[in-house]
Amino acid sequence: MNSVPNGKEIKIGDQQMIVSRTDTKGIIEYANHDFSEISGYALSELVNKPHNIVRHPDMPAAVFKLMWERLKNGQDIYAVVKNLAKNGDYYWVTTKFDIRKHPFENRVSGFVAYRQGAPSHVVDVISKLYAEMLEIEKVSGMEASEKYLAGFLDSKRMTYDEYMNTIVAESAGFKSFFKKMAGLFS
Ligand SMILES: Cc1cc2nc3c(=O)[nH]c(=O)nc-3n(C[C@H](O)[C@H](O)[C@H](O)COP(=O)(O)O)c2cc1C
Repeated sequence: MNSVPNGKEIKIGDQQMIVSRTDTKGIIEYANHDFSEISGYALSELVNKPHNIVRHPDMPAAVFKLMWERLKNGQDIYAVVKNLAKNGDYYWVTTKFDIRKHPFENRVSGFVAYRQGAPSHVVDVISKLYAEMLEIEKVSGMEASEKYLAGFLDSKRMTYDEYMNTIVAESAGFKSFFKKMAGLFS
């Protein structure tokens, strides 16, 4: 995949929350107005499209693999994600991905994601890690980049979830805001 050299960073306001819901395959069923405004896509351009419509080529594939493994296992997961806007600009978000249960049947009916702008010091650390993982993926494949991520976490003596918790705790009001939004959208 090619990089997008001319993109500028889009700043996300503290009160903005990008929400989307997908089916079990990652096809967007719902996107909120902050998602449309920040990504530059009309709601009608987002709904019924695969969620990789905002995939940025700087994101290592190993991050999405981990995310999908967790969701398919019925578990939620936090991740820091760089997304691509329609005009080639980009925005960094702290994201909680979660499952949606069918209201009457005992099965997962799809997934939901809540995102806030990632703090700049988090972006500094994560963008460096992702650039290293991406380079490793290009040269040696995704398994090598997964191992590199595991080593990075080992060096901090943390699990992935523990590391993400430190990041989420630093994202302004993310947890309380998430709880409020989860009540509205799940
Ligand atoms: C609820 C939900 C939200 C998602 N949000 C994003 C997102 O904001 N950005 C993104 O690049 N991928 C997101 N994905 C993952 C995409 O579906 C896809 O796996 C990813 O963009 C990698 O694309 P690729 O598999 O075509 O390489 C989301 C998936 C789900 C289930």
